[in-house]
Amino acid sequence: MRRLINDGSLIVSLNPNSPRTETYRLLRTRIQFSSKDHELNTLMVTSSQAGEGKTTTISNLAVIYAQEGKKVLLIDANMRKPSLHRIFSQLNHQGLSTLLTRQTSNGDAIQETSISHLHLLPSGPVPSNPSELIDSKAMWELLETLEKQYDVILIDTPSILDVSDSVILSAMCDGVIMVAAAGKAKKDHLRKAKDQLSHVNARILGVVLNQVG
Ligand SMILES: Nc1ncnc2c1ncn2[C@@H]1O[C@H](COP(=O)(O)OP(=O)(O)O)[C@@H](O)[C@H]1O
Ligand SMILES: [Mg+2]
Repeated sequence: MRRLINDGSLIVSLNPNSPRTETYRLLRTRIQFSSKDHELNTLMVTSSQAGEGKTTTISNLAVIYAQEGKKVLLIDANMRKPSLHRIFSQLNHQGLSTLLTRQTSNGDAIQETSISHLHLLPSGPVPSNPSELIDSKAMWELLETLEKQYDVILIDTPSILDVSDSVILSAMCDGVIMVAAAGKAKKDHLRKAKDQLSHVNARILGVVLNQVG
């Protein structure tokens, strides 16, 4: 079993009784009750800018789902600045980028983590054309295949105002969780980000106000 990096990112696993862990449990409950009519199996997290806590939020949420016994796949779709492999102490030689360019098979790219029921599809090596790779039939087909194999798929993405990747992905997901850093997120940035998501009819489940630092 690989050791988890103790940098506080995976608070849910390291400190199950902390108040922060409790807020991730609450987030999980809110998601559950946010949609009565639609299944929420494929969810992504995004934010208007970088450094607002997307990766931290989606990683902890993944651990919560896995602890419930759900079969969870966490995907690092931030192919420009990947970080999930580091949080889970995994290699990143193969991953989403090599899958979408058909250099690897799903079985080779998806890794078990030290958390039971939680699998990770890391980003893979940084490609030259991340938006093109995401905006592809291959990405739709990959998600379609994986949705049959997992109870929940959680996707980490780049921030909306930097690149188009997350807006493209939002149309492939059942729901979007927005993260806004308290004291950092600007109202007009948040509005612009929300407008871009609404434009593609993304289902925004809610905004997590994250207390970074
Ligand atoms: N709720 C929080 N409390 C304390 N530190 C946090 C919290 N959320 C994020 N951080 C820290 O803030 C930094 C940026 O978070 P990260 O999740 O990587 O943001 P993003 O993925 O949006 O760029 C990281 O060092 C992370 O450990
Ligand atoms: Mg991140």
